[in-house]
Parts: sequence; structure tokens; C-alpha cells
Amino acid sequence: MICPMTSGHDRIIILDFGSQYTQLIARRIREFNVYSEIRPPTVGAAELRAMKPSGIILSGGPASLEEEGAPNCDPGMFDLQIPILGICYGFQLIAKRFGGSLRRHSRREFGPAVIRILEKSGPFAAFPKGSEHKVWMSHGDAVDSLPPDYVALATATDGVIAAAAHTRLPIYGLQFHPEVVHTAIGKDLLKEFLFGACKVHGDWTMRRFVDSAVESIRATVGSGRVICGLSGGVDSSVVALLLHRAIGDRLQCIFVDNGLLRLGERRQVEEVFSGMFEVPLLTIDARERFLARLRNVVDPEAKRKAIGAEFIAVFEEAAAKFTDAAFLAQGTLYPDVIESVSVHGPSATIKSHHNVGGLPKGMKLKLVEPVRELFKDEVRQLGRELGLPDALVDRHPFPGPGLAIRVISEVTDARLERLRKADAIFLEELHRGGVSKAVWQAFAVLLPVNTVGVMGDERTYENVCALRAVTSVDGMTADWARLPYEVLARASARIANEVQGINRVVYDVSSKPPATIEWE
Ligand code: XMP
Repeated sequence: MICPMTSGHDRIIILDFGSQYTQLIARRIREFNVYSEIRPPTVGAAELRAMKPSGIILSGGPASLEEEGAPNCDPGMFDLQIPILGICYGFQLIAKRFGGSLRRHSRREFGPAVIRILEKSGPFAAFPKGSEHKVWMSHGDAVDSLPPDYVALATATDGVIAAAAHTRLPIYGLQFHPEVVHTAIGKDLLKEFLFGACKVHGDWTMRRFVDSAVESIRATVGSGRVICGLSGGVDSSVVALLLHRAIGDRLQCIFVDNGLLRLGERRQVEEVFSGMFEVPLLTIDARERFLARLRNVVDPEAKRKAIGAEFIAVFEEAAAKFTDAAFLAQGTLYPDVIESVSVHGPSATIKSHHNVGGLPKGMKLKLVEPVRELFKDEVRQLGRELGLPDALVDRHPFPGPGLAIRVISEVTDARLERLRKADAIFLEELHRGGVSKAVWQAFAVLLPVNTVGVMGDERTYENVCALRAVTSVDGMTADWARLPYEVLARASARIANEVQGINRVVYDVSSKPPATIEWE
């Protein structure tokens, strides 16, 4: 398994105590072109020292330090002379460790608060003493009395200690969250911590990432051939271009047309990769195989399993043709690999999601995962850097099982065709209305329901098509998009007029939860 080396750059380590905002801290830091990494709080001081971080951030977390078994960190960390910033739980942990006391609060709430700056120092070096600022405060446990050698830097209007610093060591704590947008001065505080206390350089850019990724791919792959499953999505497209930049024609892309793709998707992938970038690309036309496998399959999970199994079979057959291939490239992203409390907390399997298109287990190939250190928005940036056209870079997420989980009930060729046309019209109208980028995902769903309509003088009895558009940050929760009526009106009129077999269009106004984004 390889990924680009980040040595040679400053690195900030974030110890994750389970806050819902931990990933946000990492992203905020990276916005300053500083590489950041999330680690579980169990990493020891020696391991931390070996990583040579420029700074350490202790995240917030849902636990209370006053409870037994509350997560802690190796106290040896405080002797490393590395600048440390504790946020909320992290601040309380610092206070407790150095002999301060905490005030317990039964509820863990966040909300707006106003703080007054008492000392123009540490993260507040750029702010006048006495100035007041709105912040996003954690109204749970708080530091009641500071340890010796600590001084309060800011106080909330209700008297809570909002920020503090050690008088000699570069150790700081904040009771509020600088990483969320509601804390308007948050970016400045983080910047001061990074560039003032940690003395970082801010040189981790996507251009430099490309250079180090190319170098590390070449070093790992040597003269071997790499196979890359291309889906047309952003992640695999970016991985393919990066590999192609590194090893040229020793990259072999495989694109499986499973017949469950959107209108024109296969052509677009072929045009961009074979045409524009001249990447070796093998397209497998497996439409009939998938359709046959889906015959009489109605249950959503059964559809996913059937498609997942078929994909592996098709992909393995195709890959076997390249007998000299030693590596398989994958577009694994950072959120999938973070070993932390918040990411791997208990969660039930609601849908067997990301198994589809997963790695064929029987294949004896070594993994190449060149974007496993990146967040999705960084992969998009990387795509732009590599020249990937906007249409692919800005693409909405598309599920592995494709249109099969948007044709409700049984999937047939005719129904897929109907959905594909309706879906294309909807997307076209979203683009025309200039609202495509404002939504996280938008698509049409074909319902196995017939309703009465009228066409000319004739009565019709045809399918209902549902339109779904949602706003979201990560797909975990979502709200239905308040699309302009004119966009909905045009999409509805065109679908009913242009798509044979659909005579009625409805708009889905459900949020997630309780509904999911997909209908199946
Ligand atoms: P739900 O429907 O669970 O979807 O709210 C959340 C996000 O995941 C996508 N999704 C899938 N992606 N395989 C995938 O690769 C799947 O089986 C699958 N099901 C849902 C969905 O499109 C949304 O972005």
C-alpha cells in the first residue's frame, strides 16, 4: 500500500477525542497549506516525537473528564516542547493534567457566545485587549480554575474561562471551537497558532503534492504495470491521471459499462481518458451480464449484492488479461483511513454501500492508493491541477449500483432507458438554471406506479417520475434543495413531454434523516 510521502513538509498532528468537528480542524489547517493528520489519542509521546510534528492539537470530544474511563493522552507529550493547542475537551485535559479544576455540566451543548480578550498574546496576538468577539462555544464541562503557571487569555461574558495559555511553554487551550464558521475569528486564531507558535511554512500545495506523489509512485511501482478501475467518478479519475503522469502507458485503466450508467457517461469517460489524455483504457461492455443478473431482483440490498458480485467477476476477468500487472490503484480517501474515535464510532449498517466496486479479494495485486491522505475537496483541487475537465471534477457523487437503485422494483432495459432520459433532462435543466453546483446530488427516480394523465385527446396510464435534489456536507445528513420553481417547472414539463412512458413528475421534499438520499 503506498501513498505520497509527506516528509519534507510541516505536519500538524490532531489527536481525536471524538468530536464531530475533528475532520473540520484537519481541513481548516490544510486550507493554510499545512499538512495535518488525525490520530487516535492512544499514540504515545515517543511515537509523536518520531513523527516530528510542528504542532499538536487536542480535539474536542463528547466525554467528560470527570467520568471514569474518559479518554486521555500520554502526558509525556507535554514535555516534548512541541506547541500544543487544546480545544474544548482538549483544553480541559490540559487544565486537569497541570492541576486545574473543572466545572461539570450535565448537558453537552454548543451555541453562540461572546468572549472578551484579556491578553494580547498566543493565538490572540493580533487582537486588541478588551475587544469582544462572537464564538461557537461548548456549553458543556468547562475549566473552573486554572493550574499554576497558566493565565487566562479570554473570558466569556458569563464568566467562563474561554482561553488560556501556559506562561512559559507553548501550550494553549480554547473552550470554544475555532474551526467552525460561527467563530468568525477562528481562522485567525488557528493561523496565529500555526505560523506564530508552530512556525510552519505553509508550503503544502496541490502542485507540490503532485510532484511528491509522482515521485513516490515511481519509486514504489518500479517498472511494473498498474491496473486502475475507472468508474468515471472524481476519485478514480484523479487517481488515473496521477498515475498516468507518473508511469505513462504502464497504467492500464479498465472501465466496466454495467448498463447502469447515466446518459452519455461511457462516451464522456472514453473521450476524456482515451481521447484527451491518451490513457490506455479497456472498456468492458458488460451491460447484458448485469441485466441478466438483475432479472427478477427487487430487494434493494439484493440488487447491491448482485451488482457487487458481478462487478468483481467482470473486473477480475478483464484484469487477468494483463498478466504482467503487479499493482491495483484505488481512490481511497482520507476519511476512509482515519483511525479515530469519531470516524469509527458505532454505526449500524443501513445500506451495504461502499462494498460495490470494492477490491476483488482474490486478486494478488499490491495496492496503490495515492490520494489516501486527501479529503474529497482536495481530490477535486488535485483534479483541476491535473487538467481534468470541470464536468468530471464537479461531478455529483454517483452510487456504485448506479441507476439500478433508482429504478424502483425490477430493473429492465426499457425502464433504465426511461429513467436515463428523465435524469438527463433534470440535470440539463439544473445546469441551465445555474443551480447544479449548489446541490450535493440530484437525480431522477422511476417509480413502479402508474397514474392517469392526458395527452392530446387521449387518456394515458403511465409511470411517475420523482426528482430528488439535496444539499449536504458529507452525505451523512441532507436536506432537500429549495430549487427555483422555474427549474422544476421546466424539468417537469420536458420530462412529461419528451420521455415516453412518464406522464407525471413529483419533487421529493424529504430530508435525511428520516429518509435516505437514494430511494433504495
Ligand atoms: P443514502 O441513500 O444512504 O446515500 O442517504 C448516501 C450517499 O451514498 C451514496 N450511496 C451509495 N454509494 N454504493 C455507493 O457507492 C451504494 O450502494 C450506495 N448507496 C447510496 C448516495 O448516492 C449518497 O451519495
